[in-house]
Amino acid sequence: MSRAHRRTAVLSAAVLAVPLFLTGPATAAPPPEVDDETGAGELLVIGHRGASGYRPEHTLASYELAARMGADYIEPDVVSTSDGVLVTRHENEISGTTDVAEHPEFADRRTTKTIDGVELTGWFTEDFTLAELRTLRAVERLPDVREENTLYDGLYQVPTLDEVLELRAELSRELGREIGVYIETKHPTYFDGIGLSLEEPLLAALDEAGLDQRRSPVFIQSFETTNLRELDQVVDVPLVQLLSATGAPADLVAAGDPRTYADLSTAAGLAGVGEYADGVGPEKAQIIPREADGTLGEPTSFVADAHAADLLVHPYTFRNENTFLPTELQEGTAPDDYGRAIDEQLTFWETGIDGLFTDNPDTGVVSRDLFLDEEQAAA
Ligand code: G3P
Ligand code: CA
Repeated sequence: MSRAHRRTAVLSAAVLAVPLFLTGPATAAPPPEVDDETGAGELLVIGHRGASGYRPEHTLASYELAARMGADYIEPDVVSTSDGVLVTRHENEISGTTDVAEHPEFADRRTTKTIDGVELTGWFTEDFTLAELRTLRAVERLPDVREENTLYDGLYQVPTLDEVLELRAELSRELGREIGVYIETKHPTYFDGIGLSLEEPLLAALDEAGLDQRRSPVFIQSFETTNLRELDQVVDVPLVQLLSATGAPADLVAAGDPRTYADLSTAAGLAGVGEYADGVGPEKAQIIPREADGTLGEPTSFVADAHAADLLVHPYTFRNENTFLPTELQEGTAPDDYGRAIDEQLTFWETGIDGLFTDNPDTGVVSRDLFLDEEQAAA
């Protein structure tokens, strides 16, 4: 199925499978022009850590809800267990997203490590076998902001990547559209250094699932550069260089390379990224910075510079709650109340981005479809 036809299916499936309150009004916007080679022109809603605005992140329940809400892609971050199995967590230190601290049998695993230059104390996935990790249960990372999500604390295990790929296939069949996976390798240099390289099991899992072709519904993303350059030599699926408004890639720091994310984000830096990557995932402030008072400022040249380098642009992370929104789009004073998240996303769509990561995929679908409606009305 072409991407253009897939978008029609995406909209149809979302309308059929999801209650209206989750999707907003159905729209009849035609698909945008899509370049079948690069995918440019397709506007993607990426379920960040699943639908982490509504369920504890990186659980099968979170990924499933994201797909049912209409996300085009679900986003697993991967780390390794001690026996080399890829599991999905945002970081290898798991005290913030599991109940590990309540397991006395693992009390002696609590330790202090330095990961990418940051000293952390807690429990680490690489110190647990998969069987041990499976005795833990996921908990909400942000209980103060997302109190409703604590309803689900203790219900779900830490998934393996293989399970996520199986879920993807099942949901794709059920929903009648391809659900993509947007997989992030977390701390690849660190895991290389402890003999638990992430890339080999990742490629094996994609191969096993039949997801290793150029047009497979897969992106591989990384905040580091070296592993993406190496992957570019051996895989066909598109690669995405993650960027940040601050700091530097951990692999470059480890190698004594002085380049920062700011260097990679200039027009020249992006041209260099374009030599090995197909897209970039910038922090959203790199596209529209905030003013000192917290309001949205003027868009930068980032999107144009990235597109000039033939890079897709998928910024992170869009969230509904006031605490994450620009000042002028907040509603009321409670940090955890929802503000005008759709308006924020519309402003970003108008900069020409190709997709966005959101904790609230239903909101992302509504904003994307409203934007397409506006584009059609203006044409
Ligand atoms: O991968 C895109 C976005 O998820 C990057 O931020 O820290 O949530 O993985 P993070
Ligand atoms: Ca991520």
